[in-house]
Amino acid sequence: MEIIILKNAKVGSEVGGKIIADLIEEKPNAVLGLATGSTPLMLYTEMIKSHKEKGLDFSKVTTFNLDEYIGLEKNHYASYFRFMNENLFSQINIPLENINIPDGMAKNVKLHCQEYEAAIVKAGGIDLQVLGIGSDGHLGFNEPTSSLASRTRIKTLDEQTREDNKRFFKNSEEVPYHCITMGIGTVMDARTNLLFAFGENKATAVQQMVEGPVSAMCPGSVLQMHPNAIVILDEAAASKLSKIDYYKWVYKNKPEWQIY
Ligand code: GLP
Repeated sequence: MEIIILKNAKVGSEVGGKIIADLIEEKPNAVLGLATGSTPLMLYTEMIKSHKEKGLDFSKVTTFNLDEYIGLEKNHYASYFRFMNENLFSQINIPLENINIPDGMAKNVKLHCQEYEAAIVKAGGIDLQVLGIGSDGHLGFNEPTSSLASRTRIKTLDEQTREDNKRFFKNSEEVPYHCITMGIGTVMDARTNLLFAFGENKATAVQQMVEGPVSAMCPGSVLQMHPNAIVILDEAAASKLSKIDYYKWVYKNKPEWQIY
């Protein structure tokens, strides 16, 4: 795992935006895995900026989102489809047919999940997966104790996650109980995983993910087994890491050609 600790979320998102822009310039038909939540919002702003100001071309890019709530129509105000459209897709030149988000209204959820996995394979696999982390260590909606080999499937949300996410809904009763999420095995298949965590409420999850044992109790910890996982943190999210000075030292002393 490469741990990059930066001054704040803005600088972290700028570095992340550059990693993604470099990938798309090198591989115009890159396949991106995308995430929702508050964390990637500034990253998406950076991607939009690269498109509008530097002409970064998304016309051949394909995307797969990590997850979606079950029971929400695409145009529901809290659906991840709507979130992605508002915060990214409507502001870049990605063709609609290149966008993949699990369908929360799928009649046959099991079949839909199998088809989602098959579509990722057909697209050539995910080049770079954007990730956030839940305060309980979840990736996508893979709650603690999810199988570390899991694939896209239905999951029941943890009470804590429903509580954390109720800010996106009019009231807590509206928060769905179920979702479709890529599995941890699906995430592990991405060629690069780029995880962002900002703020003090992520510090414990980040410490367990980076320095704790690899355990289904903290799904994020599986990234210790990934050959190319980059973790971008602000000072607050990094505050509980015991080897914080070491991570900063490594980043400071990276050969120039390796710096993002
Ligand atoms: C949500 C999403 C995750 C996200 C996490 C953190 O439940 N399903 O993909 O990483 O929770 O969200 P936030 O960035 O808002 O803290």
